Amino acid sequence: MRVGVVGLGMGLYLATWCRRLGMEVVAACDRDPARRAAAAVHLSSAAVFEDWRVLLEYDLDGVVLANDFDEHAPLAVAFLDRGIHVLSESAACADERQAIALLAAERRSAATYSFAENYVFHPHVQLLRKAVEAREIGRVTLVEADYLHAMSPDDVSSLIGDPNHWRGRIEPTAYCTHTLSPILALTGELPTEVTAFPVDTTDSRSAVVMVVRLSGGGLAVTRHGFLQGEPDSHWS
Ligand SMILES: NC(=O)c1ccc[n+]([C@@H]2O[C@H](COP(=O)([O-])OP(=O)(O)OC[C@H]3O[C@@H](n4cnc5c(N)ncnc54)[C@H](O)[C@@H]3O)[C@@H](O)[C@H]2O)c1
Repeated sequence: MRVGVVGLGMGLYLATWCRRLGMEVVAACDRDPARRAAAAVHLSSAAVFEDWRVLLEYDLDGVVLANDFDEHAPLAVAFLDRGIHVLSESAACADERQAIALLAAERRSAATYSFAENYVFHPHVQLLRKAVEAREIGRVTLVEADYLHAMSPDDVSSLIGDPNHWRGRIEPTAYCTHTLSPILALTGELPTEVTAFPVDTTDSRSAVVMVVRLSGGGLAVTRHGFLQGEPDSHWS
């Protein structure tokens, strides 16, 4: 399988895993020259470009989208329209209009669209999923999920403080994938109603609590972002 990669931060990590699984990473791109230089070292057999559109013309079976969190949908539509399978890591779209366009592209394309959500496969989520499927714990009526980082205030602001970077410009509620996806996977339900609050109105970008009504009638409470005092630097 011939694979291309767009975005070479997380994308470089995913490219390495593509190769470990026997896929051929033949092309990659990033608009940042430092990221391209790092990729040239680690992906020596791949052609590395600045502009993702070059990959549309490449002989690819699939593409991994690991570009900015809120910019995946237009690229996904373009690759699907070329018959190239898409794996999007890890936000599908930024609004309803993009979601409708993406669904339409997936339906008219012979290629497949995949949404990469690794937290669904974490051992603790799989364990709970099996317990729910085996009816060990009955119907899920109240379920909670956390995705929290206990980083220092300086580290948090260097990660999410730049409004020119996607981590600094997306809505604080947007990175809910790693909390909500496991809940949807283990219940098999969909959200029907969402209420969200910043944890601290004097620092509203750092952490969010969401209360989500599920289609089966139960309720989910999720917390994600950056809070001090968690037992680990990365808590799920
Ligand atoms: N599942 C996970 O655990 C996990 C972890 C980290 C990141 N991610 C996801 O991976 C994606 C990338 O995150 P990251 O941490 O690598 O971000 P990043 O900002 O470090 O890297 C993104 C890279 O994409 C490049 N890029 C953006 N738009 C481009 C374009 N149009 N053409 C060429 N290059 C482009 C940028 O120059 C940058 O180097 C995000 O969607 C993020 O949510 C997922």
